[in-house]
Amino acid sequence: MKILFVGDVYGRTGREMIESYLQKLKSKFQPTVTIVNAENAAHGKGLTKKIYRQLIEAGADMLTMGNHTWDNRELFEFIDDAKLLVRPANFPEGTPGTGIRYITLPHTMSVAVINIQGRVFLPPLDDPFRIVKQLVDEAHQKTSIIFVDVHAETTSEKLALGWYLDGRVSAVIGTHTHVQTADERILPQGTAYLTDVGMTGPYNGIIGVKRATVTKRFLTSMPVRFESEEGSGQLGAVLIQIDEKTGKATKINRILINDDHLFFD
Ligand SMILES: [Fe+2]
Repeated sequence: MKILFVGDVYGRTGREMIESYLQKLKSKFQPTVTIVNAENAAHGKGLTKKIYRQLIEAGADMLTMGNHTWDNRELFEFIDDAKLLVRPANFPEGTPGTGIRYITLPHTMSVAVINIQGRVFLPPLDDPFRIVKQLVDEAHQKTSIIFVDVHAETTSEKLALGWYLDGRVSAVIGTHTHVQTADERILPQGTAYLTDVGMTGPYNGIIGVKRATVTKRFLTSMPVRFESEEGSGQLGAVLIQIDEKTGKATKINRILINDDHLFFD
């Protein structure tokens, strides 16, 4: 079985890239399930109900989130009904939503999707290592196919979570830093790992944001209003092949689409 995971959809450009390419990617690679990180999908911050629906209609089976989960307040109103969405599992107890959900499949085991957030250079949350361990143990009661989106700032914390979960889950894939890393591998016990899958959004911005505003902030240290960059888009994704009997990954391939890496279907 194959999992296609698309990285952080950022604003309108990101959503347009999903509209333009998700079905083409699905036709080409035939993933069993498709997971999309949507924490930046509404103007770069959070998610609205309309965009939630759009991403599901475009072909996502599950959406993951991150540190911008609550930046669009609409989510408070519909998260309990959003059955195809996980937010970081290590938000404090009592936070609406859930950090683990299952995608049920007709001919094979279900796929557990877990979202966890790092704590280095990000707001303090519960310990991601202990929380993810609990959730993985829980998921193993139902399935061996477990996908983990690690939304974190530092490579070291993502790598540590990757090695910590090696052999316990099918894949540990990083999100949040928006630039795709080239360190995809299968760890020795069978977990597919990639530090960051990369963003799906404006190609010529600075991690999605208008270049001029980011530069101004660096040059002046003055507060600026961040807006999405315009122009051409990019899409960052990863395709993971998994032995459905063992849940171990057998192959991992990065996918990057932009003006410098054209897509051929
Ligand atoms: Fe993020």
